[in-house]
Amino acid sequence: MNPFDLFGSLVEKIDLGVIVLDSDLCVQRWNSFIAQRSGKDLTQALGRRFLDVFPEAGSPRFERMVELARGQARHIYNHWLETPPLVHLMHADNDKNGFLQSTLFFLFETPDGESHFALVMYDTSAVARSNEQLEAALSALRKKQDEQDQLLRKLETANSQLLQSEKLAAIGQLAAGVAHEINNPIGYVNSNLKTLGGYVRDMLRIINAMDGAANLDELRQLKANLEYDYIREDAEALIAESEDGIDRVKRIIGALKDFSHIEEEEFRPADLHRGLDTTLNVVNNELKYKAEVVKEYGELPDIECIPSQINQVVMNLLVNAAHAIEQFGRITLRTACDGDWAWIEVEDTGQGIDPKLLNRIYEPFFTTKPVGKGTGLGLALSYSIVQKHHGRIEVHSELGKGTRFRVWLPVVQPTALGQKD
Ligand SMILES: Nc1ncnc2c1ncn2[C@@H]1O[C@H](COP(=O)(O)OP(=O)(O)OP(=O)(O)O)[C@@H](O)[C@H]1O
Ligand SMILES: [Mg+2]
Repeated sequence: MNPFDLFGSLVEKIDLGVIVLDSDLCVQRWNSFIAQRSGKDLTQALGRRFLDVFPEAGSPRFERMVELARGQARHIYNHWLETPPLVHLMHADNDKNGFLQSTLFFLFETPDGESHFALVMYDTSAVARSNEQLEAALSALRKKQDEQDQLLRKLETANSQLLQSEKLAAIGQLAAGVAHEINNPIGYVNSNLKTLGGYVRDMLRIINAMDGAANLDELRQLKANLEYDYIREDAEALIAESEDGIDRVKRIIGALKDFSHIEEEEFRPADLHRGLDTTLNVVNNELKYKAEVVKEYGELPDIECIPSQINQVVMNLLVNAAHAIEQFGRITLRTACDGDWAWIEVEDTGQGIDPKLLNRIYEPFFTTKPVGKGTGLGLALSYSIVQKHHGRIEVHSELGKGTRFRVWLPVVQPTALGQKD
């Protein structure tokens, strides 16, 4: 078969409209797609101007296509979505509304050197329809995404509010503990003062009697009656005890001051041991009925940290340790330095953590404590604090035996190292 006939048969069968125009835009040929969809007869159109056969195609846009195709020998692609299509062609199922047209318009040369225009048209309704569906799906997705973003933002706010309230709860708990701690010494200092007041009155009576006393025997008798020897001894003991009590109160208040640099956000070199002692003083009330606290401090340089935050981490670990002990146990607080790193360890002889739950303990709100007892934020908060310090937390736990948390902190913060270089 002649190769041109081969292509001719193909063009007749293909699901594309093909119109060939000569260089004066007169119709030379079209295929059966055009014949069927336009309802026009090729024999009547042959040699006639394209715009006379399809007057609807006359538009500045078409003129521009011709201009570009002729002048720059380019293939001009057009998609007739918003505007009426180039020519009226019916849809395959005789839908009078026609179809969405895409057109390709270009100049080509025949073997004998004559220039012709080709207008190729195809139906993109199906593509457009699936495009529309895609667009709809996309916009639904975007809407979902927006909703999720909003939800996330709400969660973040709620989370930070909760962290805030967790801090407040911790402070409340702390305040209650401190009140209890202070109450005891204040109580006995107060009662000592009352007793001492009585003693002073008795002694004043003895001193006053000295002026009017007839002889020493009378005075001796008064001293004996008022139990002067006992008063002297007891007064000394009461004063010593009261001084001790006031010292304790002073220590607690000092610790509290150290501990409560809540606003403090600056990294600074700090003595970790001092922080640990402070924290122990503050949570002593929670610990003393549950455990003997053993300190095994190593040698530590000053550690660059936000001391109040590290105190908070240690407090969480200590309180957790005390909670894990059912009756009475031991809590060991250890420290050491290993090269550029320091670590603090809190070990308890409590119930241990189920290995299945071990990877969940840092999750916010994860708690195994009864409702109202634990918020499940202690370790989450500690984790984020340690992360902020470029450190890490390790945990080792055995059910029934106990748990050991180790907090690693760099001696010098990496950013500060960078600045020093
Ligand atoms: N030393 C420990 N021994 C045994 N289990 C522990 C220990 N420390 C933490 N856990 C487990 O990890 C869980 C989470 O601890 P986390 O401190 O985050 O929350 P919480 O103590 O339950 O509540 P919160 O500290 O907010 O009052 C605890 O409920 C407990 O199951
Ligand atoms: Mg806790």
